[in-house]
Amino acid sequence: MTEEAYLFFLKNRMPELIRLNFCIHRTGSSGLPADPHSCRVQQSGSWHASELIDWVHGYAKIFFPIRINERFMNLGTTILKCRHSVREYKPDPIEENILKDILECARLAPTAMNEQPWLFGVITGRETLEKVAGLTDHGTFIAEAAACFAVFGKKNAKYYLEDCCAATENIIIALQAYGIGSCWVAGEKKDYAEAVRTALEVPEEYTLVSLVPAGYPLDIPIQKKKPLKDIHFCEKYPKE
Ligand SMILES: Cc1cc2nc3c(=O)[nH]c(=O)nc-3n(C[C@H](O)[C@H](O)[C@H](O)COP(=O)(O)O)c2cc1C
Repeated sequence: MTEEAYLFFLKNRMPELIRLNFCIHRTGSSGLPADPHSCRVQQSGSWHASELIDWVHGYAKIFFPIRINERFMNLGTTILKCRHSVREYKPDPIEENILKDILECARLAPTAMNEQPWLFGVITGRETLEKVAGLTDHGTFIAEAAACFAVFGKKNAKYYLEDCCAATENIIIALQAYGIGSCWVAGEKKDYAEAVRTALEVPEEYTLVSLVPAGYPLDIPIQKKKPLKDIHFCEKYPKE
């Protein structure tokens, strides 16, 4: 990506990223923090889009995959790090071309032996959204989503679960890149998997792996994550 194309992207897509958590909470009275990666969004309404865009332009370089200040950073990983499960959505619909692009991202996920043992459903009809929501236990918010992706795996494929999980993550990250919030809702291990398959009239050779309700976010709760130092090792697990 050229710098020009990148700046075009920032100008046109930043407001969406901002809406989806690419925002910053004020750190005392000092204004914007020095490093966008060190911040977490607390109040997405605190900053005007133009204010943030100016700020990001100032830092545009850090989003290129280049070494600056002893760190590598790029836009892709920044989008990935800004993802959070979103369960409250605005009523705005998701544009058709975006839904199509999300499906493109899903079908490009890696699969064992390139088998691609899947089927992707997109639900936008309110009645069907409500029906699917009602079948789940912890997915009632599907009823309020602008759309819901349903990922089905071909049961006779050895790695269908891994493959469909890879596609599910692609869907979630691609949505995030458009400023659209989503939440992985369990499928494969749930008793309602079969009921969802039947409701969507999907052939019996498939089983539900995941549901991904999506919409422009109303609220973005931020979960605590384990620090990297507690969950990684280099080369070999260290001795006590
Ligand atoms: C396999 C899987 C199943 C999940 N099922 C549900 C679910 O049924 N309902 C729900 O609200 N969230 C579900 N989640 C979302 C998790 O609750 C969420 O990812 C977790 O709390 C961490 O928050 P974060 O996604 O914001 O980092 C699921 C996530 C995964 C990976």
